[in-house]
Amino acid sequence: MRCTVRDLARMKRRGEKIAMITAYDSSFARLVDDAGIPLILVGDSLGSTMLGHRSTVPVTLDDMVHHTAAVVRATSRALVVADLPFFSYATVERAVAAAQRLLQHGGAQAVKLEGGAGQAATVACLVRNGAAVMGHLGYTPQSEHAVGRARVQGRGRAAAQRMLADARALEEAGAFALVLELVPEELAGAITARARIPVIGIGAGARCDGQVQVLHDVLGLDRTFQPRHARRYAELGQLAFAALSAYAAEVQQGAFPAAEHGSTMDAAVLAEALAHAARQEDQADGSD
Ligand code: KIV
Repeated sequence: MRCTVRDLARMKRRGEKIAMITAYDSSFARLVDDAGIPLILVGDSLGSTMLGHRSTVPVTLDDMVHHTAAVVRATSRALVVADLPFFSYATVERAVAAAQRLLQHGGAQAVKLEGGAGQAATVACLVRNGAAVMGHLGYTPQSEHAVGRARVQGRGRAAAQRMLADARALEEAGAFALVLELVPEELAGAITARARIPVIGIGAGARCDGQVQVLHDVLGLDRTFQPRHARRYAELGQLAFAALSAYAAEVQQGAFPAAEHGSTMDAAVLAEALAHAARQEDQADGSD
């Protein structure tokens, strides 16, 4: 049975911490699901982790639907949240159409969008139409051109007041959960304590109801990048690099494949096939 938004609400009430992680394809999504992680985010971070973009801005709705469907196909237990990409929710009408594609064609169980009180009407409309919506406050990567590079948000008095009001507005609009990205832990703790919905942090300290991380950061898939807010639980990038180098060397040296990687056939059958081919080639040469 898939995790539901009600299960998540129950976890918050009981004080059970919620683990969430991104996934973008079937192989890793299956591992995440098997590991019992209840919430998967098909984040638009796939722009940089999977598609080679520098940011989330170029990610399209088609990209999101494609990767969401792959994640949904490989999972049966986690609730899958898909990011509404940049500008796909610039108007309520566009948000409805984009969410419909992610939920119907991608098969996600929920969508996530960035922004505060200014997005409350959009959240309310999606929720009124039966969608489960997750909000995203603090550093919002889709606005990088407007707000600048990734840095902690909400340290000042006005910014903290605004984030508290934004969190309340999203909850009142019907969001089932909130992500807080790069927020001081005291403010994240206060928002978590005031909210009746689960608050999931990334770089927002331990007082949130749960944590979300980018799969590539946690598994060390990118050997050159390590954000401060992430802990590497494995060095898969190093492992993969060593494995690929060994594979290339063995192919070059003729050490791979070995006999057990192939198959054999009866020598007489091959001799017959070669003789047949030679006869046919002779005939073709004769008719030229
Ligand atoms: O796209 C993403 O991976 C995200 C997380 C950083 C929360 O939005």
